[in-house]
Amino acid sequence: MARKPFIAGNWKMNMTAASGKQLIDELKPLVKGAKCDVALCVPAILIPAMTKAVKGSKIKIGAQNVHFAESGAYTGEISAEMLKEYGVKYVIIGHSERRQYFGETDETVNKRTLAALNNELTPIVCIGETLDERQVDLTEHVLTKQLEKGLEGVEDVTKLVIAYEPVWAIGTGKTATDGQAQETIKFIRKKLGKMYGVKNANKVKILYGGSMNAKNCKGLMAQPDIDGGLIGGASLKTDFATIVNYDK
Ligand code: 13P
Repeated sequence: MARKPFIAGNWKMNMTAASGKQLIDELKPLVKGAKCDVALCVPAILIPAMTKAVKGSKIKIGAQNVHFAESGAYTGEISAEMLKEYGVKYVIIGHSERRQYFGETDETVNKRTLAALNNELTPIVCIGETLDERQVDLTEHVLTKQLEKGLEGVEDVTKLVIAYEPVWAIGTGKTATDGQAQETIKFIRKKLGKMYGVKNANKVKILYGGSMNAKNCKGLMAQPDIDGGLIGGASLKTDFATIVNYDK
């Protein structure tokens, strides 16, 4: 079952309208011949300007979060409909930084995922274990819980993307080895198979995220269950294009 590779950048709270446009202008010719799908998940306030900047290129724009309500008294929040109005295609949900600093739980991840799917946005649902959890052999337990609770009520799992981001590998320069990432992502696919059937699980794109860069991308992308990457630091420079062109 061939799954089209997908490389997505997560700018986190970085860039401005000016520096973002400049980077996109540099990236556009570099990613022109890419065979994979490409997205940049940018800060919400930059979405209108970056959507304009990527016009005529392969790059699609994603958001980094979405509120679960359709509308209402939720000061500071942004709805799926608002994102859609600006041509947003993807939305990162449940990133470990949101779980760590903003009280995100599997339950809120679940509500956001359902809201995104209801509005035809493609959720990039992030899951991953901490170093402490890995050290005491809780990785599979944690991932199982995140998948079971986070995806509760999701009918068509092929409409979303999973990003496996081991928390200990994010922004640390410490990447999971190719083997560790493959083994864990294979486990995730197996679990999805139990939840949704093997045929559907084989259609789901599962990305690796955590210190993925221009040097280690080839080895990670060569793994049979790894369909792409969610790139933090390296998506803030033209290295991102090198990752997008990992097969060249
Ligand atoms: P880094 O690539 O900077 O480690 O970040 C990974 C990440 O959190 C992407 O969402």
